[in-house]
Amino acid sequence: MIKTRITELFGIEHPIIQGGMHYVGLAELASAVSNAGGLGIITGLTQRTPEDLAKEIARCRAMTDKPFGVNLTFLPSVTPPDYPGYVRAIIDGGIKVVETAGNNPAKWLPALKEAGIKVIHKCTSVRHSLKAEAIGCDAVSVDGFECGGHPGEDDVPNFILLPRAADELKIPFVASGGMADARSLVAALSMGADGINMGTRFIATKEAPVHENVKQAIVAASELDTRLVMRPLRNTERVLTNAGVERLLEKERELGDNIKFEDILPEVAGVYPRVMVNGEMDVGAWSCGMVAGLIDDVPTVKQLIDRIVGDAEVIIRSRLLRMLS
Ligand SMILES: Cc1cc2nc3c(=O)[nH]c(=O)nc-3n(C[C@H](O)[C@H](O)[C@H](O)COP(=O)(O)O)c2cc1C
Repeated sequence: MIKTRITELFGIEHPIIQGGMHYVGLAELASAVSNAGGLGIITGLTQRTPEDLAKEIARCRAMTDKPFGVNLTFLPSVTPPDYPGYVRAIIDGGIKVVETAGNNPAKWLPALKEAGIKVIHKCTSVRHSLKAEAIGCDAVSVDGFECGGHPGEDDVPNFILLPRAADELKIPFVASGGMADARSLVAALSMGADGINMGTRFIATKEAPVHENVKQAIVAASELDTRLVMRPLRNTERVLTNAGVERLLEKERELGDNIKFEDILPEVAGVYPRVMVNGEMDVGAWSCGMVAGLIDDVPTVKQLIDRIVGDAEVIIRSRLLRMLS
C-alpha cells in the first residue's frame, strides 16, 4: 500500500486518478477505477445537460460505493455551457471531488467549497499551479508537455515541470501526462508528486466505454505517433495522428498565421462521438498522449491498477533499496 497526501485527501486506496476525458469518462470507467481503489472521474461536459450529468452521477453511484469525482472543463467558447447548472448537479449529486481544467476556476470555488467538495485543478505550468493554490484549490494535477489533450503553450516536459512544482507548491499535486505504469508512479513520487493522473492509459482498458478500434489504435501507436494541432490558434492539443489530423496540419502550414478556427472545423467539430462511439479512426483530432508508446495491452482497470501498485512496491523494495547497500 502506498499512502500519500492524495490518498488521504480523497479517501482512496491508491494514489492513482483517472483524468476527465471527453466521451470516455462515463460511469463505466469512473466506477471501475474507483472500485479498483483509484479515483474515477466522470467528464461533466460529455453530458449534454446538467440533468444528464445528474443521471450519469446516479448511474455511477449504482456501480460503486467508493468515492468518485466529476471533471469540469472551462474552455473559451462563444456560447458557454450551463456551468451553474452543472455545478448544481455536482453538488446535488453528493460529489465530493471535482477536477477542474482550462480557465481559472475561482468563480466556482465558493459554491464547491461550501458543499464540502475538494477541488483538484489541472495546470500545465508552475505559475498556474501557484495561482490554483492561491485561490484555494486543495490540490493540483501538473500536466506535462507529454500529455494527451491540452499541454498549454510552454512545452515543459514532466522531468522538469514536476520537480519545479515540488519546489514551489505547498498543496499536494499529482503528476499527469506520460504516466502508464509502476515506473511512472515511482518516478513521480521521487520528483515530489503525491500520485499520478492518467488519461490515455485508461482508454486502453476493458471497461473504457469506447469503440474497440480506439483501444487497438492506442496499442498499435508508438511514442512517435502523436501530433500537436491548433498551435497557431494558441489552443494546442496533442492528438493521435490520422488522415484527418494530417489534413488539418496541412491547412495550418498553408494558411499560416491567417488560420481561423472555422478553417479547421471539419477536422475538430463533432469528432469525439464519431471516434469513440463509431470507431471512425480517420475523421479528425482526438486527444492522445505520447504514452501510447508504452501501452501494449488492454487489461481490466483492476488488473492495471493492481499491476502498477504491485510493481511499484517491487521497484522501491528491491531495485531501489538494493542500490543503497
Ligand atoms: C481522449 C482524451 C480526452 C480528454 N478530454 C479531457 C477533457 O474533456 N477535460 C480535461 O480536463 N482533460 C481531458 N483530457 C486530458 C486528461 O484528463 C489527462 O490530463 C491527460 O490525458 C494526461 O495525459 P496522458 O494521456 O499522457 O495520461 C483528455 C485526454 C484524452 C486522452
